[in-house]
Parts: sequence; structure tokens; C-alpha cells
Amino acid sequence: MVDAIEVTNKNSVEAAGKQIKIVTFLCNWCSYAGADTAGVARLKQPYDFRIIRIPCSGRLNLLYPLRAFFDGADGVLISGCHPGDCHYVEGNYYARRRLEVLKNFLPFLGIEPDRFKYTWISATEGIKWQETITQFTQRIQELGPLSIKRKKVDAE
Ligand code: FES
Repeated sequence: MVDAIEVTNKNSVEAAGKQIKIVTFLCNWCSYAGADTAGVARLKQPYDFRIIRIPCSGRLNLLYPLRAFFDGADGVLISGCHPGDCHYVEGNYYARRRLEVLKNFLPFLGIEPDRFKYTWISATEGIKWQETITQFTQRIQELGPLSIKRKKVDAE
């Protein structure tokens, strides 16, 4: 017996009335501060997301966003400092390569690429954060809930 996964994507009609869950991973130095800037400025934002603060986008283990999907997230957004502005010099360059690989890998798991996004937002870009999270949330609401079930299957 081995674990297998079954992915179900429900459209917005089936999803009516269900709250979606979005997990965001934001680097401490830029994007987390950008989201904070949006909050301090009282910019209107959706409420369907949770923020996980990470030291740098380059420190994000790719298993974390995958784990988020497998544990019930309907969308995952990752944001770091703009290329060239990473506080650890080149962390976001490493992140960009890895995140692009992950984005291309998701369809093989049955997860639409639109459920995953990575971007760069600085501490002063509160408006950009507001626009990004609002558009991403709207897209996830259109896609509806993502259901990933693990089941045991016979391996032959
Ligand atoms: Fe923000 Fe590296 S410190 S991406």
C-alpha cells in the first residue's frame, strides 16, 4: 500500500458559501513591511489570507507551500524584496529560480498554476500589496476550493 493523492478543484458555483483559505509567505524586510504599510494606511484588503513571516524569500523551503496546499490552502502567495534589494544580497535570486520550478511543477499534481503566485513588494508599496492580494484572492474565489485527499492504493 502506498499513499496516493486525489485533487479536486471545485468551481465557484460549487464553492458558493465556502470560505477560501490563502497562505502567504512574506519576507520580513520588504513584503511583510509592505503589508504592514497597507494596514497602517487602512487600505481595504480581503480577509481570506494568513501571513507567515519568513526571514528572506531565499530561505523558503519549497515543501512549505506544498504543505500548505496539502493541509487545506486554496492558494499560496509568496513575496520578497525586489531583485537587487534583498537584505541578504541574492536570496531572492535563488528564490526566483526555485519558485519558477515549483510553479511549473504544480500542474503535475493537479493544482492550477493560478493558485500559486510569487511577486516582489517593497516596504513602501502598501498599495501594491493591497492590489496584489485583492486580485489574487479574487482569482482564487473564481477557482473555488481546492481539495486534496490522500488515499491508500495497492502498488503493483
Ligand atoms: Fe527580502 Fe531576501 S530579505 S527577499
